[in-house]
Amino acid sequence: MVSAVTSRQFLRDDLPEVAFVGRSNVGKSSLINRLLGRQGLARTSRTPGRTQAVNYFLIDRRWYCVDLPGYGFAKAARQDRQRWAELMDGYFRTQGEKKLLIHLVDAKVGATPLDVEARQYFAGLGLESLVVATKIDKVPRSRRVRGLVALRQALAMPEAPEAVPFSAVSGEGVKELWTGITAFLATSREGSPETGKQ
Ligand code: GTP
Ligand code: MG
Repeated sequence: MVSAVTSRQFLRDDLPEVAFVGRSNVGKSSLINRLLGRQGLARTSRTPGRTQAVNYFLIDRRWYCVDLPGYGFAKAARQDRQRWAELMDGYFRTQGEKKLLIHLVDAKVGATPLDVEARQYFAGLGLESLVVATKIDKVPRSRRVRGLVALRQALAMPEAPEAVPFSAVSGEGVKELWTGITAFLATSREGSPETGKQ
């Protein structure tokens, strides 16, 4: 629908939003394509920092899937990082109560200091969120449980549900992620103006 590069372009039409965020190159765009079963919908790339705008995809005319630019790619200039922070701050403060945040962390790399910082920032915004461990196909089965436990510890999420292991290559985790998204959409509809609560 829209590829927003400034906060003035953010959509404000009262539909729930599911936003995907994470380190640059973590696999956000690939996950969105796999989830929606549409290869090439969100542009993917081997070059980190490919997605630089807030991209809105309207799904079933009922909710937006939002591909956010990644954070923390090494070559980003200070100016770019500042721009990212401002864009994200503007985004997360728009339509606050109807967003589900899906925070992607690379299962093989584990949580980096920037992921931890981002998690703290998101927690401070008080948004509902889910953590997804991406590229799980790169982690041998014998190391998965240990990896997910370490991720949980690093991100300090004892109360939160465990990270959803996901692979855009094998499709693992697609079903579990849909379950989380569907539950969020059901609750956000209960709070929509059509059902009375303004
Ligand atoms: P930016 O838009 O730059 O922030 O990156 P992104 O997070 O959208 O990552 P993107 O989906 O473009 O993927 C980055 C690279 O990781 C690409 O080379 C993908 O093919 C690869 N990749 C993404 N998901 C997976 C996965 O589940 N498994 C494996 N093995 N590779 C993946
Ligand atoms: Mg991307």
